[in-house]
Amino acid sequence: RRLVVLVSGSGTNLQALIDASTDPSYGARVVAVGADRDGIEGLARAERHGLPAFAHRLRDAPTREAWDAGLADAVAAHEPDLVVLAGFMKLVGPAFLARFPGAVVNTHPALCPSFPGTTGPADALAYGVKVTGATLFVVDDGVDTGPIVAQAVVPVEDDDDVASLHERIKVAERAMLVDAVGRLAREGYTITDRKVRIGA
Ligand code: GRF
Repeated sequence: RRLVVLVSGSGTNLQALIDASTDPSYGARVVAVGADRDGIEGLARAERHGLPAFAHRLRDAPTREAWDAGLADAVAAHEPDLVVLAGFMKLVGPAFLARFPGAVVNTHPALCPSFPGTTGPADALAYGVKVTGATLFVVDDGVDTGPIVAQAVVPVEDDDDVASLHERIKVAERAMLVDAVGRLAREGYTITDRKVRIGA
């Protein structure tokens, strides 16, 4: 199965998928990497592994809709079976999702439905939860509201700051992402009433 991964930053989740791809029994391999900006480590990782990589910046498009359509074209060019948003910091629009129906997944550094949006770890810390974690879900037209594929739980420590908490989340998130994406790719999945069932 062909994975196209979209990133906006360091790309450690991407790296975990690239590393998993080296195992032929994993059942999926990263075939291309896209970003919404240039000059990020995520794109450098792609280049280091000889993977096609592209930056598709908002300012390169006349409107948000045109950007969304252009992103879909750039991703579709690599014929993905699954599009993985891994630290991608833009909302993809309905036109993008329509190009890859049920095949866009996103990893979020909180236990959905708690703490959606771009500051999940900070919000969890501020709220005072004792556990948080990461969620892989199939993207729908909401913000971090899609049907859940997998979750991983980590403790919040009394002396945590946002950085230490997010780092702990990311360790669990990478393992959860690699495992779940591999299962989706190898076994297929169906979604009924928001329940994602993996395997025939
Ligand atoms: C991940 O925790 C992701 O869930 C969040 O930002 C982080 C990206 O990390 N949106 P990386 O770029 O994969 O290292």
